[in-house]
Amino acid sequence: MSRSAPQTACVIGTQWGDEGKGKIVDVLCEGCDAVARFQGGANAGHTVKFGGETHVLHLLPSGILRPGKQAILGNGMVIDPETLLAELDAIHQAGIHTEGRLFISDRAHVVMPYHRALDKGREERAGADKIGTTLRGIGPCYEDKAARRGIRVAELIDPAALKAWLSRVLPEKNALLAHCYGAPAFDLETLWREQAALGAKLKPAVVNAGELLAGLYRRGARILFEGAQGALLDIDLGTYPYVTSSNTCPSAIGTGCGFPVRRIDETIGVVKAYTTRVGAGPFPSEAPPALADLLRERGGEYGATTGRPRRCGWLDMAALARAVWTAGVDSLVITKVDVLDTLPEIKVAVGYRRGADRVDHLPASFPEEPPAIEWKTFPGWRRPTGDCRRFEDLPAPCRDYIAWIGAATGCAIRMVSVGPDRAQTIVLDRPLRATPP
Ligand code: GDP
Ligand code: IMO
Ligand code: MG
Repeated sequence: MSRSAPQTACVIGTQWGDEGKGKIVDVLCEGCDAVARFQGGANAGHTVKFGGETHVLHLLPSGILRPGKQAILGNGMVIDPETLLAELDAIHQAGIHTEGRLFISDRAHVVMPYHRALDKGREERAGADKIGTTLRGIGPCYEDKAARRGIRVAELIDPAALKAWLSRVLPEKNALLAHCYGAPAFDLETLWREQAALGAKLKPAVVNAGELLAGLYRRGARILFEGAQGALLDIDLGTYPYVTSSNTCPSAIGTGCGFPVRRIDETIGVVKAYTTRVGAGPFPSEAPPALADLLRERGGEYGATTGRPRRCGWLDMAALARAVWTAGVDSLVITKVDVLDTLPEIKVAVGYRRGADRVDHLPASFPEEPPAIEWKTFPGWRRPTGDCRRFEDLPAPCRDYIAWIGAATGCAIRMVSVGPDRAQTIVLDRPLRATPP
């Protein structure tokens, strides 16, 4: 990045999610005033560890854990009020207070209990063809948004408007649930009372988040945008249909926060030193079972939202290069390098082959037969890296591997993460100004 003191940055996942975005946002937030989510919902699971405590956040931006930072849930999100209140309770109990610094967009869409029921019904009915969603109602809620029958936070906090909207949409939901999925119907009066009560609790935090962000920006506040999921789960650019239902790339900040994308100074991509994916869908560099098990155990690769074991494999440079280009990534943070510490060699998928033809990006659709992979092999370092705090402390083969990822993607490496704790981070150059002491 050319500017020495950028005011805004975004952090996005460059793979299929779970790259360690939560940890990196937490580290970067030290130098920020505000952090905003712009898409997704409680399908996200962002883990932050410090001071012997672990926090898993689904809807709240990870920056909320830093006292005094403003946390904004943008209009592009789909918010489940019950989950949000439970998450707030959990962090209040941990002694982290959010009064006066949590802001929820009045235009964000609300995940209703019928969205969760539809998600479950559809997945169950799909059998072997299921997506493997998080069952958080994400797809059905974004469907309603696109179909212009979604209920937004503005309606949730206005009991009369909420009743009018529910009266309009609930008969169709109940018919679908009963006739297509054999699921119980929702009672209008009960649902209205429950949701109105949740809305009343959230109301004090509800604002026009676009205006709030514009004001912060004009006053010189340093703002970080926190992506959820990853570039390969983007509904347009990912491995469709095995994707989430939102755009996960930085372009979504424009529409998902009402914040001009051209005012974002740096796009920081988080890349795990290997690859994981939860749920179904193509994964060309997936490891054979014994190696996948080893990576899963060393990396603690179990879903932060659903607890499902994550599928594990090698870094896929073809997919990463594509993600870096389409998401406009400027710099990279490499995480979970320590997970590879014991391996004698490290492989990277550098391209795919179909017969004699080289294909260097993920195809639009994957037939049954996976593509042949072209591999590059790196020597392992077989030394623990968890205590390294400077780039020079890392073993030479590890530095070479990291430098190669930077060179192959054309990105500066900003940080290297060598463990889950906040302290286990090697900062090569802070993309955001540090807070003056
Ligand atoms: P996110 O969804 O991108 O925020 O990532 P998750 O929190 O779902 O998954 C990342 C997991 O790896 C969490 O359990 C983190 O605590 C952990 N983690 C993050 N960075 C590192 C690292 O550098 N090394 C190790 N061993 N674990 C890490
Ligand atoms: P974070 O922010 C990993 C995956 C699901 C499924 C697909 C669709 O923690 O990186 P959805 O519930 O969104 O309709 O599921 O997307 N998925 C994630 N995988 N990390 C996530 O979030 C994910 N959010 C959704 O497993 O394959
Ligand atoms: Mg996660």
